[in-house]
Amino acid sequence: MALAIMGSGGDAPGMNAAVKKFVDYLYKRGEEPYLVYDGLEGLIDGRIKKAEHRDVAGILHRGGCVIRSSRSKRFYDAAYRRQAYENLQKHGIDGLVVLGGDGSFRAMDIFSKEFPLNFVGIPTTIDNDIYGTEYCLGVDTALNTIRDALDRIYDTASTFNRAFVVEVMGRECGYLAVISALGSGAEICVIPEVDFNRPATETRLKDEIAHGRGYILAVVAEGTHKTQEIATWLEESMGMETRITVLGHIQRGGAPSSYDRLMAFEFTVRAVDHLLKSEHSNKVVVYNEGGFGMMGIDDIVNNKYRINPRHLAMLNILD
Ligand code: F6P
Repeated sequence: MALAIMGSGGDAPGMNAAVKKFVDYLYKRGEEPYLVYDGLEGLIDGRIKKAEHRDVAGILHRGGCVIRSSRSKRFYDAAYRRQAYENLQKHGIDGLVVLGGDGSFRAMDIFSKEFPLNFVGIPTTIDNDIYGTEYCLGVDTALNTIRDALDRIYDTASTFNRAFVVEVMGRECGYLAVISALGSGAEICVIPEVDFNRPATETRLKDEIAHGRGYILAVVAEGTHKTQEIATWLEESMGMETRITVLGHIQRGGAPSSYDRLMAFEFTVRAVDHLLKSEHSNKVVVYNEGGFGMMGIDDIVNNKYRINPRHLAMLNILD
């Protein structure tokens, strides 16, 4: 069989490990691997090529995605989706693996309803915001990057008796903020999913300051749009000099962690095995409580990811 792989939407560390495993594994199984360059844009324009080993040599440890990615406006147009489907047919491709996030899976949901596709999605986003899976490829590396940044900020915050407000990515999801706040011992975590209880936090922190607290670390999810507001409040009510750090796109890049590499392999092998025995798959590989499964794209896109309540409870931001 001829199978293709592509990236779509925001890149995440581990995509290259998945692409490499895809090519190596298909050759090992005596099948034909194809690469779609530039995501859905490349699919529309037919930037598809049969993979050779040299296309994926030396890429395992690199962040980003060597076959690149895109967010395609044109793909919302049915005529371009037809063009994309015809390109797959032109190359005799029997199945497609899509490394993508929520937006990409919505696009694939529409695409798979219109055409008799055979595709499997691999949840890939640092935001970790896809329904049906507790882990998305790339989030482990992003969390390690954020942890490293917060540890460094802690050093200077505690030395200078300052408050720091650190904004992390995640789109509308607070997962990165929650796990990072837990791991760094931040005093404050503000996420879109939970109303921030400012009066209770103020009372708690003022009491702690009266008993010797000299610094404050606040992790704020970008989706709240409250970074500046939290900083102004800290400066005015705690009387503490306050600085803002927006971590931005450094959270997306970098060499994938060992865990993300391993999970890239696990996801990819399952995606390929599934496609090789299907004719019209429209599923996504998911990972929960130590086990892998397949979930219909319908379920994935029609439900909302929720942060594990256990993690929220550990943060004490629900009072
Ligand atoms: O979805 C991944 C992500 O990095 C989000 O966390 C962030 O909101 C967005 O992409 C940034 O998008 P762009 O790279 O287009 O600025």
